[in-house]
Amino acid sequence: MEKVFIKDLANFVDKEVEINAWVSNHRSSGKIAFWQLRDGTGFTQAILAQADLDNKQWDEAAKVTLETSVKISGKVAKHPKKDEYEIQVANFEFYQIAEDYPIGKKEHGVDFLMDNRHLWLRSSKQWAVQRVRNTLIQATYQYMKEHAFTKIDSPILTPNACEGTTELFELEYFDTKAYLSQSGQLYLEAAIAAHGRVFDFGPVFRAEKSKTRRHLTEFWMMDAEMAFIDLKDNLDTQEDLIRFMVQAALDNNQEELKILERDTKPLDNITKPFYRITHAEAVKKLQGMGSKIKDNDDLGAEDETKLTQEFDNPIFVTHYPAEIKSFYMKRDANGSKAECADLLAPEGYGEIIGGSQREDDYDELVKRVKEHKLPMDEFAWYLDLRKYGSVPHGGFGFGLERVVAWVCGVQHVRETIPFPRTIHRIRP
Ligand code: 4AD
Ligand code: MG
Repeated sequence: MEKVFIKDLANFVDKEVEINAWVSNHRSSGKIAFWQLRDGTGFTQAILAQADLDNKQWDEAAKVTLETSVKISGKVAKHPKKDEYEIQVANFEFYQIAEDYPIGKKEHGVDFLMDNRHLWLRSSKQWAVQRVRNTLIQATYQYMKEHAFTKIDSPILTPNACEGTTELFELEYFDTKAYLSQSGQLYLEAAIAAHGRVFDFGPVFRAEKSKTRRHLTEFWMMDAEMAFIDLKDNLDTQEDLIRFMVQAALDNNQEELKILERDTKPLDNITKPFYRITHAEAVKKLQGMGSKIKDNDDLGAEDETKLTQEFDNPIFVTHYPAEIKSFYMKRDANGSKAECADLLAPEGYGEIIGGSQREDDYDELVKRVKEHKLPMDEFAWYLDLRKYGSVPHGGFGFGLERVVAWVCGVQHVRETIPFPRTIHRIRP
């Protein structure tokens, strides 16, 4: 008898198979019992008829509980009306009869669910989110491979800050101090001179004290860096990548998006060009909408929400005032704006990507390091890159959880990562 996954049952109609699964629901009506099964690849129903089982097995079947783990064998049948498959059980064996399962059908508060995250992951919506996340990860690797990027693994233990010093996690590193990486970007800038186009994809850390629906203290970032490009090339790549990722989710995760009750119509727009507006234009628009934002202010979370509710596709906001952006960003001709862009997801989701052209001139970069009061000696290696074959270059980084939240239509990033870490949560 073949051991199969639930997702493949359609290939085994009228055949005897074995499946291994968890019982996510069950009911019984006298001489027949129905078990809803889940094995990670899909969902199915097992039908147990008293007539098909010996007495001992029929009595044993009555012991089933929510989340009991079980091995089942039986014949596969197609549901008479729906495109679903069932198993007529001939034999079964419990791995373990689960104790009273704390997550029931009733509504639970988010804190309770988060405290039970190790169990909550099994719920169908949480399953669906992780499946979409998986698709977006796989699509990223595929896209990068098809576009000549080499994966360069940047370090997590670092002696300096990439994105400013306020959000660093500091730790003792023998007789000195180290910090958890906020982004691998600076290391990728070194690697472009060896590989041309590079990316990393891993966890990064920020001691975010803000408790918002968009901030985690540990999240997954994909940084990409490219030699010989300008800002337009950079945005074109981001647009193409995001389009590819969203399309992959639409192609592979219709069932999951249905479970999540995600209206996929807004995602279908992804084939159209993304909007591109300057920071100055965004501010003007926001002021017109009643925001108190001033000309040289960064866009706050509220502003991003408001702005992106106005658009039906992602928006690049470019050319922020240089003084509110990172030290490494190249400035435009008159020196007041950074050659940068944030990509904001529509439907109120806000920033998913930060990127820019990098300062490639040695003297200018020294000036920036001083202005930002960064330790010159720690940046000596980074400055070196401007001495030995400096080239125009740039890149970007997306926050995976923000992209997953948008694609899934989930309001809070804590549901998009298996075990979220925030200012108030490091367990389970
Ligand atoms: O905009 P950020 O800070 O850009 C960088 O770190 C650059 N060094 C990237 C680069 O150019 N290679 O962060 C990039 C993205 C944001 O757009 C956002 O999606 C996500 O990372 N992000 C967070 N996601 C969850 N929780 C947080 N606390 C986040 N902070 C940033
Ligand atoms: Mg940013």
